[in-house]
Amino acid sequence: MSFNEELTKRAENIEEMIRLYLPKEEGFQRTVLQAMNYSILAGGKRLRPMLMQEVFVHCGGENEEILKPFMAALEMIHTYSLVHDDLPAMDNDEYRRGRRTTHVVYGEDMAILAGDGLLNYAFETALRAFDAADANEYPRIVRALQILAHKAGVYGMIGGQVCDVESENKQEKIDGEKLMFIHEHKTAALIEAAMMIGGVLAGADEERIAAFEQAASDIGIAFQIQDDILDVTGSQEVLGKPIGSDERNHKQTYVSIYGLEKSAEDVDHFSREAIGLMQLTEGSFLYELITWLIHREK
Ligand code: IPE
Ligand code: IPE
Ligand code: MG
Ligand code: MG
Ligand code: MG
Repeated sequence: MSFNEELTKRAENIEEMIRLYLPKEEGFQRTVLQAMNYSILAGGKRLRPMLMQEVFVHCGGENEEILKPFMAALEMIHTYSLVHDDLPAMDNDEYRRGRRTTHVVYGEDMAILAGDGLLNYAFETALRAFDAADANEYPRIVRALQILAHKAGVYGMIGGQVCDVESENKQEKIDGEKLMFIHEHKTAALIEAAMMIGGVLAGADEERIAAFEQAASDIGIAFQIQDDILDVTGSQEVLGKPIGSDERNHKQTYVSIYGLEKSAEDVDHFSREAIGLMQLTEGSFLYELITWLIHREK
């Protein structure tokens, strides 16, 4: 099987698994449940749960039943971040994952609530790991919950989004330190959560977890630089979301600050650093996945 076939198969499997954890669209609140499911089932690369699972397997993890709720939970949190990111008050985008964005279909009020719903439901879902665990696995689950909560919050993804929106429409260029803060937090934080939780649930020690955190930070930074590049050079058809969003919003991005050429070099640099840190060998799925991220077109 080629790498691309493997990637598609894994994303499909993850999608099937996520479906099992989605809420039923019933009750007086069903509109919000429909909006949540519409957003999460729109496709997407499923990169974060894929990385979580891969690190879990890489570390010799056995009980996948405690992993799955966390894979679904992280994709819920990622999806909520996109639903809110697309709102008129934020990036004001009308397409995502090849479909109209949640607020366009369900209205802004329901999109805000669907985002809130996905975030909260993520924790309700992750907590289900306890139902599938032996008592000796509880400490791993507690540690994984700590990581999930922290990396999604104001010291993680939300913190990065705050700086991202505050840097819009500014005359003076933000400095390199602030740009890295934005990339590390708005994007790398959830990728760090993915890889760290994969390791924690498999029973890896803290030293290894720290190495995964560093590698994931590099992957996340490279991933966001490539996202900034594709916002300029990509096409809506392939990406499933509008291009030129950053320019329209007068965003400061890696590309607007350093230019396309240095941006591409840095994607390569950060990706290679991650591969080195994890001592990956050519041909392994993780190696191919990180390499693919460098050249991805969506
Ligand atoms: C988009 O993430 C937001 C960024 C952090 C750049 P993805 O590119 O992983 O989006 P999906 O999940 O595949 O739609
Ligand atoms: C998004 O960054 C990061 C999030 C936490 C959602 P972008 O605003 O560049 O993501 P896209 O390009 O809309 O997917
Ligand atoms: Mg944004
Ligand atoms: Mg955006
Ligand atoms: Mg973008």
